[in-house]
Amino acid sequence: MMEQLVKNEKKKKEIGIVFILLALISLIGGVFFGSISALQFIIPDFLNSIPFVKSRPLHVSLVVAWIFLSSIGGIYYYLPRYCNLPLFSNKLPRIHFWIFLFTGVIILTCYIIGKFGGREYWEFPPILAIPIFISWILFGFNYFKTVFKKVGQWPVYLWMWGTGIFFFLFTFSESYLWLFPYFRDNIVRDITVQWKAYGALVGSWNMLVYGTAIFVMERVKGDESVAKSKLSYLMYFLGFTNLLFGWAHHIYIVPSAPWIRYFAYFISMTELLILGKIIWNWKNSLSEAKKDFHIISYRFIVASDIWVMLNLALALVISVPAINIFTHGTHITVAHAMGSTIGINTMILLASCFFLIGDITKHQFQLQHRKIIKSGFWITNIFLMIFWLSLLFAGAEKGKLIVEDKLSFQEIMQNISPYLTVFTISGIGMFIGLLMVIFPALKAIKTYLLN
Ligand code: HEM
Repeated sequence: MMEQLVKNEKKKKEIGIVFILLALISLIGGVFFGSISALQFIIPDFLNSIPFVKSRPLHVSLVVAWIFLSSIGGIYYYLPRYCNLPLFSNKLPRIHFWIFLFTGVIILTCYIIGKFGGREYWEFPPILAIPIFISWILFGFNYFKTVFKKVGQWPVYLWMWGTGIFFFLFTFSESYLWLFPYFRDNIVRDITVQWKAYGALVGSWNMLVYGTAIFVMERVKGDESVAKSKLSYLMYFLGFTNLLFGWAHHIYIVPSAPWIRYFAYFISMTELLILGKIIWNWKNSLSEAKKDFHIISYRFIVASDIWVMLNLALALVISVPAINIFTHGTHITVAHAMGSTIGINTMILLASCFFLIGDITKHQFQLQHRKIIKSGFWITNIFLMIFWLSLLFAGAEKGKLIVEDKLSFQEIMQNISPYLTVFTISGIGMFIGLLMVIFPALKAIKTYLLN
């Protein structure tokens, strides 16, 4: 891979696709470590050299890298190609890429050798936050310098991307406030700030992903109506409010005014509902010819719509205060996190990757590859459904047994182990499905980079 990247540097190929290459590799690595973590649920001694305390952060960091890299790669490519906005600098994205790659490799090495020091999501030594911060400054500077040249009404995704970038920087800094004794030494203040930052952080990456969804829908349809409709701006407004208030449902254990929580629920559900509606309207307005031409991207976007609805239903249930206290910290929270990062974010981002790869490489996937991708698509989604349901059942059972308070923790874990076995097997099935989707994409990128 390094060889390819060096060659790419020499030939000055599209930087967007190099980000996508790294994104897809991170996704494979992430799901691989996810499978190891899951196997460790049922066979605790499995792969002793990488125990759960290491495999979990390896999994989470790599899948989060997938979400960021694929969103960023899309933005770098779409701005000059489709928005008529040549990048302010073509050099900064390359510096951005190398910082991301080198910092990423150091972070993974730290996890493998057991050097931690950070907190949830950013478990690596805090010093490594500095290059991450710098790379986002470069990205933000280039983005705003580029888009401020745009005259006339901005399509909604330009607002979404800009908001996502700005708030990532803001909340990323906030998530490190615990380094200061003023925050760290007061538990309520510490937990409040920490979870507030994480809630908003998810809100900021959602802005990048939902902006990408609207962009891809606009391009597949071939007109700007999707990105300039009232519904899209309403969704942006809700997403923005969600980014500011959505943290409220993360900090149940911390005393806060009840109206903030209710307001937060209302906003986050409406945001998902509107995203679902936008995709639904788009799907119904597409001609058969357009669906057919962009069949892979189309399928992934439609799949994301189904996951929007399922996650909305789950979010509704777990946001009821009485239920949340009992589900918090069980596998239901994990189902909520993975249901949305896989079902919604990953489906949308795969749609964008296929749109971008097809566009840059002018590569029409051969029939044989299309068949593999189609089977991979179905395998991924069917196993994802089983995976998600098994987490829900495991969480419900665990919550119930904890409330009954009759069994020891070991006994509770034994009771839910059949669900965790189904979870692990379906997770591995999903991994195979994803590989079937990703390999043809990697092959197309390889052909482009080597020519
Ligand atoms: C695109 C694919 C995936 C994404 C985006 C993803 C995302 C995530 C996220 C965000 C978390 C953190 C959840 C939390 O903090 O509550 C997580 C945890 C986890 N994931 Fe995944 N995941 C993916 C695929 C998989 C697969 C295929 C497996 C198993 C085969 C898996 C197994 C796990 C396990 C075991 C945990 C830890 C759960 C715990 O701590 O109780 N993931 N994943």
